[in-house]
Amino acid sequence: MTIRFIGVILNGVTGRMGTNQHLVRSILAIIKQGGIKVSDDLVLMPDPILTGRSEGKLKALSDKYSDAKTGPIKYTTDLAKVLADKHYEIFFDSSGTLQRAQFVEMAVKAKKSIYCEKPTAVTTAEAMRLSKLCTDAGLKNGVVQDKLWLPGLRKLQMLKEQGFFGQILSVRGEFGYWVFEGTVKDQPAQRPSWNYRTEDGGGIIIDMLCHWRYVIDNLFGNVKSVSCLGATHIPERVGEDGKTYKATADDSAYATFQLENGVICHFNSSWNVRVRRDDLLTVQVDGTKGTAVAGLRKCWVQHVSATPKPVWNPDVDSPLDFFAGWTEVPSPLEYDNAFKIQWELFIRHHALDAPFRWTLKEGAKGVQLAELGLESWKSRKWLEVPSL
Ligand SMILES: NC(=O)c1ccc[n+]([C@@H]2O[C@H](COP(=O)([O-])OP(=O)(O)OC[C@H]3O[C@@H](n4cnc5c(N)ncnc54)[C@H](O)[C@@H]3O)[C@@H](O)[C@H]2O)c1
Repeated sequence: MTIRFIGVILNGVTGRMGTNQHLVRSILAIIKQGGIKVSDDLVLMPDPILTGRSEGKLKALSDKYSDAKTGPIKYTTDLAKVLADKHYEIFFDSSGTLQRAQFVEMAVKAKKSIYCEKPTAVTTAEAMRLSKLCTDAGLKNGVVQDKLWLPGLRKLQMLKEQGFFGQILSVRGEFGYWVFEGTVKDQPAQRPSWNYRTEDGGGIIIDMLCHWRYVIDNLFGNVKSVSCLGATHIPERVGEDGKTYKATADDSAYATFQLENGVICHFNSSWNVRVRRDDLLTVQVDGTKGTAVAGLRKCWVQHVSATPKPVWNPDVDSPLDFFAGWTEVPSPLEYDNAFKIQWELFIRHHALDAPFRWTLKEGAKGVQLAELGLESWKSRKWLEVPSL
């Protein structure tokens, strides 16, 4: 048995996504499961090093998560030095969106395979520039598109492959929850404050339309046009430093997409809603033969044959329990963490040339939809989505 160790630089890893999803639930989980078993003779084993600006924070992260299985987790503030080290073959970035470009440029110069969080940039031109930098240098590259591996959305894909829906007519996505303003001491804001400042790369349109682009393109058909209305419902919030700041970015988005195949999708995304639905994200797909509603993990279906006939009568309580006529789709397999699955695919792509289609170019399509969404809001117009 050969164990091939692959040096992976995890940059900006002390942040929310970097720590929880990428370090703990992906890279360390892969190490703890014994690596990625390719065959009876070969295992791919990530060998991470944490990079960032604060030695103290990196050390604390390493101390917290190093154990007998992981060994001491390496860290450094000297990114240039690890980029120059040939042992490190993959560079991953989950720093802030506006910081991404400089790091991708450094990693391209160092000829690493490049994997990063979305959005890759806040303009299509910049996202395409980064994609081109990687492809011109002949480097493997990828962008996180985690929602594709959510069990709920995989069940939708399974139903589609089984022909459950008949003809798909429309898709409605409802995403969001209440993010505390931070004005009350015991209800601190649960998301970083930069998310609410445009000048720092924040805004729910740039954040979420990137996701909706790959979800829609992959599950329902290519997006043809977009109409989007944004809003900043909460104008002031309290930051990590306890100080009040002006929320300059949109915190809610009401977006409609027309697809090339005629399907209409409408997605609401908001940090200002309280949840009375099945999950933080629900995606309802209505087709001629049946409807499915997916949450993050679960999915419920109602076939045309089980569809009740409601009667509008507000004078009496509804005789129909609308939630009763649905069947939960059983899980046909055990679903792994969505981020971890994509990491394993990227490592296989890097080491074995396995196919990987979630490239920086695909990521740029997400940025494009977000940028057009912002433009549509500003101009109050439907906009076509040109192919990139
Ligand atoms: N895939 C998803 O579902 C998803 C969800 C949330 C956020 N994101 C994306 O992930 C990225 C990080 O978001 P987050 O919520 O973890 O934010 P965060 O603020 O918690 O983390 C950002 C990290 O980057 C670090 N950083 C900032 N500037 C740096 C620099 N110059 N050098 C090194 N490190 C630097 C910060 O110290 C922090 O540790 C963003 O691009 C965001 O859009 C993706």
